[in-house]
Amino acid sequence: MDENEQRLFDSWKNNASSWTRAIRNQQIESRVLVTNSAILETVIELNPKTFLDVGCGEGWLCRELFSKGIDGWGVDASGELIEAARQEGDTRFLVSLYSDLTSHKFGDTVHFSCLICNFSILGQRDVAYIASAGHSLLKKQGKIIVQTLHPIIACGDAAYTSGWRETAWHLIGNETFHPAPWYFRTVESWIEEFHARNYRLLKLREPCHLVTNKPISIIFVFEQQ
Ligand SMILES: C[S@@+](CC[C@H](N)C(=O)[O-])C[C@H]1O[C@@H](n2cnc3c(N)ncnc32)[C@H](O)[C@@H]1O
Repeated sequence: MDENEQRLFDSWKNNASSWTRAIRNQQIESRVLVTNSAILETVIELNPKTFLDVGCGEGWLCRELFSKGIDGWGVDASGELIEAARQEGDTRFLVSLYSDLTSHKFGDTVHFSCLICNFSILGQRDVAYIASAGHSLLKKQGKIIVQTLHPIIACGDAAYTSGWRETAWHLIGNETFHPAPWYFRTVESWIEEFHARNYRLLKLREPCHLVTNKPISIIFVFEQQ
């Protein structure tokens, strides 16, 4: 693991309890107003039988999908976040790095309809790990659904090129956040990286802020070839 990846994991370990409170107390306005429903609608439109929530955090998206009768699992590197997810009553959560996804058993599910990555692809090598795992874990023509900050907005004043960035913020909602490095990708490189690994872009959405009408996030639906 390189230094940026190690700092990223350490940061999510440190942020686990404040992240859990921020999500459960609905402190992140863009999520409450736009991005939570955008990812849910995108997944549900695809009518999946099963899903793997990759980087599930404290598990809110799994719980929403379970409540709609869709079977699935959540995985995350943070033992604290997985514990917080299980404490809500469901056992379909596992500690795993993206690099280890294929080494687990997910109950009776061998092949998933989709992998969902909701704001959880943060490292440089994550696309490679997840795309590669998808070729073993997805059904034929399975989907990888990625929601991330919209690159045009997230880029800020820096040059529009892919590369490691530092988070500038120290709060999530009202909670303290230990900053972490994250790997910025342009729209072109998101698409190219998946295309290079035998997925093709099926759909792209740009959910916008309800007042400013600026894009908050981008959602890619890639289909395995
Ligand atoms: C911004 S949070 C998003 C959590 C969740 N998807 C949500 O929408 O609330 C990013 C999550 O990705 C996880 N994560 C990041 N890189 C990871 C990796 N390489 N392996 C496993 N989990 C990872 C972190 O532990 C963290 O829980």
